Amino acid sequence: MVDTAPPDEAEILGTAVTASPLAAEAPVRIPVQRYISAGFADLEHERLWPRVWHVACTTDHVADPGDWFEHRLGRYSVVLVRGDDGVLRGFQNVCRHRGNTICQGSGSGASELRCPYHRWTWDLAGRLRELPSRRGFGPLRNEDLGLVPVRVDTWARLVFVNLDLDAEPLADWLEGVPGDIAWAGLDEFRSDYSTVTPVNCNWKVVNEGFSETYHVQGLHREMLASIDDVNAPQRIWNRHSASFQAYGVPSPRLGRNVDTQTVWDSFVETQGGRMGPEYREPCAAPDVPDGQTLQDVIAQKIRDHQATLGVDLSGYDTSQITRLSQYNLFPNSTVLVSADLFTVMTARPGPTPDEGVLAIINLRRMPSAGAPASSPVHVTVPIDAADFGFVLNQDLSVIRTMQNGLHQPGCTHVLLSGEECRIINMHRHLERYLGLEPGGREPDPAE
Ligand code: FES
Ligand SMILES: [Fe+2]
Repeated sequence: MVDTAPPDEAEILGTAVTASPLAAEAPVRIPVQRYISAGFADLEHERLWPRVWHVACTTDHVADPGDWFEHRLGRYSVVLVRGDDGVLRGFQNVCRHRGNTICQGSGSGASELRCPYHRWTWDLAGRLRELPSRRGFGPLRNEDLGLVPVRVDTWARLVFVNLDLDAEPLADWLEGVPGDIAWAGLDEFRSDYSTVTPVNCNWKVVNEGFSETYHVQGLHREMLASIDDVNAPQRIWNRHSASFQAYGVPSPRLGRNVDTQTVWDSFVETQGGRMGPEYREPCAAPDVPDGQTLQDVIAQKIRDHQATLGVDLSGYDTSQITRLSQYNLFPNSTVLVSADLFTVMTARPGPTPDEGVLAIINLRRMPSAGAPASSPVHVTVPIDAADFGFVLNQDLSVIRTMQNGLHQPGCTHVLLSGEECRIINMHRHLERYLGLEPGGREPDPAE
């Protein structure tokens, strides 16, 4: 039995609430095999993925009776289906006859689930309804051959799945995260689209790219004039963690004399569309009235743009609009929230350790009155065929080169700093699930 007791927080960081940059006693070493070894990926399939709550889709993807959605996670496949009784259920996507996959893709209007091979058929609650040529099997009871259920629960329209029927309740699993972001009213959002993108790297490479701000000064230099990446607090509950980043202010790394136009240009280039389509192109910085900051002006422009969409953000202050709350849900999701945005990026394993999937769910805050039921567009997007946005394009450009580097014989470990504490925390919990010794500290050359 693998011990999955949570690591002592003090063991990880010495404190649960920390500010970045974090000083570490020594770099933390993570063996590179975790990213490239088929044996390690097998271990994850055996001991991690069947036992964790993880994001599959949103309730908008399966809103009505008869809606169904296939959720894939590495070698595992789950079918989510909304029953005639309105209940959302999940089943392992496998036929009880000879093991064929029952559903592929997604759809609506289903009245039953039928295996295409020999046409065994179940109702939407997973009860075996009929099978052809039953007599040939001899005695056989329908109630023994229902689809294999999985646990399904929701938070903020996100549908979570756990293959472990004895798993703790989702509300407990999420620790302090829902309470921390309760101010944002996430239930007012609906999903408008979701994408799935195959990537040529291990799922952890994707996941870790969204688990630290250390790379802003290197990879996202255009963003540096409009983000405080230095005074960005990080928080670790137990298995989950968060980072909070202020936008519309320059990084302290640029010194004190960063003019307003430079900050404005950076914000426009990297996320100007949040203020409306006219702010996607370079333009003169607006006047900043006495007693206000550029952040106040940006926040008002975002409120004004949301108002054109029927969304009232008057109840959200400058900080709630310009600060990004980034939650890293163990093991593989990143939830990004400001008052005007809610995006979930999930890194899933692929068929080999060198392959993964980036799944993005985008949600929009609905107009307060009479929100129409939306049916999200769900598409597979090849990595080279789409524009993911200025910043995410940069993130994706590196995950493609990372996996190759990790295969070089001279690369035996990755090194992590205190600033990368959320990655370290993920590995500590991964080790518990897999039954491994913790990755070590870099030996001190003076010792
Ligand atoms: S494998 Fe599904 S009906 Fe035969
Ligand atoms: Fe990034």
